[in-house]
Amino acid sequence: MTGSPMPAGRHRHLISAADLSRDEAVLILDTAAELASVAGRPIRKLPTLRGMTVVNLFFEDSTRTRTSFEAAAKRLSADVINFSARGSSVAKGESLKDTALTLEAMGADAVVVRHSASGAAHRLAGWVTGSVVNAGDGTHEHPTQALLDAFTMRQRLGAPDQRGGGLDGVRVTIVGDVLHSRVARSNVLLLATLGAEVTLVAPPTLMPYAVETWPCKASYDFDAELRKSDVVMMLRVQQERMTAAYFPSIREYSRRYGLDAGRMALLPEHAIVMHPGPMNRGVEIAAEVADSPRSTIVAQVSNGVIVRMAVLYLLLGGAAAAA
Ligand code: CP
Repeated sequence: MTGSPMPAGRHRHLISAADLSRDEAVLILDTAAELASVAGRPIRKLPTLRGMTVVNLFFEDSTRTRTSFEAAAKRLSADVINFSARGSSVAKGESLKDTALTLEAMGADAVVVRHSASGAAHRLAGWVTGSVVNAGDGTHEHPTQALLDAFTMRQRLGAPDQRGGGLDGVRVTIVGDVLHSRVARSNVLLLATLGAEVTLVAPPTLMPYAVETWPCKASYDFDAELRKSDVVMMLRVQQERMTAAYFPSIREYSRRYGLDAGRMALLPEHAIVMHPGPMNRGVEIAAEVADSPRSTIVAQVSNGVIVRMAVLYLLLGGAAAAA
């Protein structure tokens, strides 16, 4: 490993993609690229975080994020405690703060938290002494998803050196339920930092309030944006967060904002199709698109492990070295 830990004190936590400077984001992506070579070896474990404890504190369901943080911590030789709210004392009314302090009393050096409340990770960072990593807080942010997405773009589009390690000039179109998407917000913030040109496409009812203050463009013409995209990122329709009727029907949504094979043909030849998962096949993305060679969906999952290894290494590695 040549990547050196982030400066002590500047980054004890990763709460928002906006916390990262361009150099820091590139350091994480470069460190992940080095770790990718370890992932290909017969023995994939590194001793870097031996003796440290990472707690996965999940108050919302997750497949990819929880398992990849667990795999990442274990590959760095940390001990892992997996906590899910279901079946815990949270069901008896225990608060986030008391739950976190209880787990910290067991020696957590880092807490990876997912919660339905926007701002939960930020609050947690004020209560615990270990590092806090935001694994998704309500409709607010999901910074490690944005990092793994940026890593996947660099990997698939190539030439990161010509872009100074970033994504300068890469045209990314993010499509769908932006209003409820923490993935979209974190991606817009990180991609802008890395120099990409981001355009959001959504029905007017699913475009966030004050989107003109975001560092991106907004458009309602999906087909026009596709023709000039290097990357199209489809978002899940988050029906579980919807409190009103945002579009007439799923069928109508899919017709206007879904990516099927016909629409995919509008993309430039080199362009890639991304989705953070979980997908609603047949709603925002057709199965034939999700399973096509242009799709990076499986690579995004694999890259999630190495990018999260890089984040844990850079946040905790300094503490391990000083011990
Ligand atoms: N992309 C993502 O956050 O997936 P999970 O909800 O499965 O963690």
